[in-house]
Amino acid sequence: MSHDIAETLRPIAEPRILDGVYSEDQHRRLVDVVRRNGPWQLILAQHFNSPEEVVATVSGGMPEGVELTFDMFLTPNFRGYFAQNGTCLYPEIEDTFYNRTFLEHARAYWNAKYARPEMMLFNIQGPSGSTDPAHLDATTFRGITMKNTPIWLMNTMTKSGLFTRWLHRKAQVITWFYQGRIGGGFTYWPEGPLGQPKRLAAPMWNRGVVVQNEMMYHRGEANGPEDMRFPAGLAFQSLFGADPERADGWRITTDGRTVQNIPPEETRFLVHWSAEIYMDLKELKVVMDGTDDLTHERVFDMFIADLRARGMAFPVPSDPFTDTGFIRLLNKTYDVGTPRIYPVEAPGPRRAAA
Ligand SMILES: [Fe+2]
Repeated sequence: MSHDIAETLRPIAEPRILDGVYSEDQHRRLVDVVRRNGPWQLILAQHFNSPEEVVATVSGGMPEGVELTFDMFLTPNFRGYFAQNGTCLYPEIEDTFYNRTFLEHARAYWNAKYARPEMMLFNIQGPSGSTDPAHLDATTFRGITMKNTPIWLMNTMTKSGLFTRWLHRKAQVITWFYQGRIGGGFTYWPEGPLGQPKRLAAPMWNRGVVVQNEMMYHRGEANGPEDMRFPAGLAFQSLFGADPERADGWRITTDGRTVQNIPPEETRFLVHWSAEIYMDLKELKVVMDGTDDLTHERVFDMFIADLRARGMAFPVPSDPFTDTGFIRLLNKTYDVGTPRIYPVEAPGPRRAAA
């Protein structure tokens, strides 16, 4: 991997740390929406249709001869949405989504003129392991989105740094409510995957960051007592919801049977608010009118030109979407791997194959 690729994965600015992000009343209403509208599915179950699909998707990156099982990827992390596509799904929390303070934070972070709330989700969990060495949130580009383009191509476009001009600019305000004392912090790499990490350590109550998580490696750390991190009976279809026996407690169920009760002091609740950013009126118009959109043809032309400039010889693919040799070359050239340095307090995940 060349150094210039690693250098592209840096956020527009150093993340800004916020305290007292939501008012007590806002927090109470957010939690209330989660309690009343659950139970909620695993994050994993929202991205895949079955355990087999999970294994099939990740197995390509594993050394040969390692037998993969779904349990290797199963962690009790659950998710739900407060707002999607610029629309708040629960009127009682509209003030938290159409949030003037957050808009100011987002604009200031980018030094931009305009911001628009796009999405708001929560992750909720009790004690949990982590299999995530660090990740980037999904990027999209003008003309190149989930609607017309596979994720691997968008990820490769991000890592290449060739398409920054077309990147949909975004900022997030991510906030944690976690009283636990074992792990559960947030590690991030603002200087890129080769640089030193930084860390927000738990306990973190109503503490947040303003970030650009599409361009910065980051991860939630494993949290809670080790013997509670993988409850017996946890499965692909497990759900997370209010514990009817305890006013502020939660529980995980599998097929209607409780597999774990989670006390409030071990509950980790994360609220992720995201906004689109427009530097000025000109950019807002260009994006909305689609006057400077990328096409697939242009994307591949730019990749091919860059590969040549790097001195690579290869046959020009007739269908780059399916040409495995060409895809492999793209992966090899623009893959930065996972971060090299981890905080001593929060080492990287143990590898299933190690
Ligand atoms: Fe993320």
